[in-house]
Amino acid sequence: MAYTSIEFSCSDGIARITFNRPKALNALNAALLDEFADALKKVSQDEAVRVLLVTGAGEKSFVAGADITEIAPLSPLGAKKFAQRGQTVIGQLQDLAVPVIAVVNGYALGGGCEVALACDFIYASEKAIFGLPEISLGVIPGFGGTQRLPRIVGESRAKEMILTGKHISATEALEIGLVNRMFPPDTLMEAAMETARMIASKGKASLCAAKQAVNQGLNVDLPTGMHIERDLFALCLASPDAKEGTAAFLEKRKPVFTGS
Ligand code: CAA
Repeated sequence: MAYTSIEFSCSDGIARITFNRPKALNALNAALLDEFADALKKVSQDEAVRVLLVTGAGEKSFVAGADITEIAPLSPLGAKKFAQRGQTVIGQLQDLAVPVIAVVNGYALGGGCEVALACDFIYASEKAIFGLPEISLGVIPGFGGTQRLPRIVGESRAKEMILTGKHISATEALEIGLVNRMFPPDTLMEAAMETARMIASKGKASLCAAKQAVNQGLNVDLPTGMHIERDLFALCLASPDAKEGTAAFLEKRKPVFTGS
């Protein structure tokens, strides 16, 4: 598939998806969602990928939400299908086996905030703005915001954002734990790349197992989560990468993980 609304690149185990509809501040329309889904499939099928960065083109916007020109005329049934489509693609993002970092360079509003919420963690520019402004349009978040935001920042902070629709700065987002780290705009991508390179230097099996253990564990009770962790720990230990990692430690050298 040829991309016109996103850019996709991949090198040295680091994949990057850049939302790129500058005239609409990278808003998510149906065409962009299709391209996003296609790129996510490529990431999931490429054995060499160990980490994905998701960002927006330009300095102004990560993603300014779902495309309001496409939402406005929808019937209730059409709206349900639209929300389902967005939820499916963003679910595909959350369910990627490899870690995903949201690199939020500007506005992350509505569907854009919801994309960032489905990533494993968020690095933001000092200029980034977050918000779920759907209430100001007479609707509610439809791509997972009412479900993922409270799980990340807690019920009352999430309700304040969802019920007021107000924008919050990167500093506020950092304070409430929505964002992991904040950087000046010109060093944001390099900082994200530094973390991505660190992640990409680890064994793929253990990266995927660690993410799976946390994600699955959050949806079950603690004893069940412990069980999941034990099984994944045992699976990892049997992998060639674990043989290499433990041998390298004992031989006092740096490990070379082959991803197997
Ligand atoms: N959909 C479609 N077009 C959008 C858009 C969106 N979500 N956000 C911005 N644009 C377009 C604007 O219409 C404008 O286009 P024109 O130049 O053709 O007029 C262009 O992008 C630039 O935007 P502004 O002129 O508004 O730029 P600004 O700097 O004055 O304001 C902004 C920036 C605060 C982000 C403002 O554009 C804005 O509030 N955008 C809408 C944000 C929003 O409500 N998002 C939620 C959408 S609904 C949703 O996401 C539902 C869901 O959960 C799935």
